Amino acid sequence: MGGHRVPSDVRLDERTAIVTGANAGIGLETARGLYERGARVLLAVRSVSRGEAARAQLERQVAGAAPPAGSLHVMQLDLASLASVRAFAERINREEARLDLLINNAGLVLAERTETQDGFETTFGVNHLGHFLLTMLLLDKLKASAPARVVVLSSAAHKRGHIEFDDLQLTLWLQLVEKLFAEQTRESPFRARAVSSPI
Ligand SMILES: NC(=O)c1ccc[n+]([C@@H]2O[C@H](COP(=O)([O-])OP(=O)(O)OC[C@H]3O[C@@H](n4cnc5c(N)ncnc54)[C@H](OP(=O)(O)O)[C@@H]3O)[C@@H](O)[C@H]2O)c1
Repeated sequence: MGGHRVPSDVRLDERTAIVTGANAGIGLETARGLYERGARVLLAVRSVSRGEAARAQLERQVAGAAPPAGSLHVMQLDLASLASVRAFAERINREEARLDLLINNAGLVLAERTETQDGFETTFGVNHLGHFLLTMLLLDKLKASAPARVVVLSSAAHKRGHIEFDDLQLTLWLQLVEKLFAEQTRESPFRARAVSSPI
């Protein structure tokens, strides 16, 4: 992976960090950086097998490092399920002595509208609501470990758009797309077929 590297050599021994979506992309690289610096890193992943593969990869890559790396622990967390978020937070609050860093990294962008287990539009439910509930449920643990930090991954893409507060569930937007599609179908059946083609 290219891009910038964090030059800091600050050690994170005795620190505990949660990274959501730690099995891939930015989350995996973030977990690596924290692990290399000595942190106890909890890999919060929706698929335990993908999490275990990431853990094995990081342990292989960082093996024999000096000073020694911290530790990696795979924990199941599906941000598309508020029940899963509650169960995860309950386990952290029960089992972890401290929590110094919560990195809200997991995220997705979907080509079509789907819903989470709780009936929220999935992008909104996973990227925002799941992380919001998770942060609220872990706040006391974070405060008790002060100075602690919550880091929220975002995107520069927000500069190109705005929040439709009257349509957080994307239902009006979907109706608009369907209406435009129906109009196109009436005007040009051939073009509509091309638009709906998976190719
Ligand atoms: N990459 C960029 O250029 C870029 C730009 C702007 C913003 N961002 C933001 O940076 C963050 C990371 O992006 P990335 O490019 O590293 O993404 P990525 O490679 O697609 O990884 C996303 C991670 O989120 C996890 N995830 C998705 N749905 C989840 C759920 N319901 N519960 C728990 N975990 C879930 C994925 O797990 P699975 O592997 O199981 O699917 C994966 O580990 C995101 O919030 C993204 O919006 C990225």
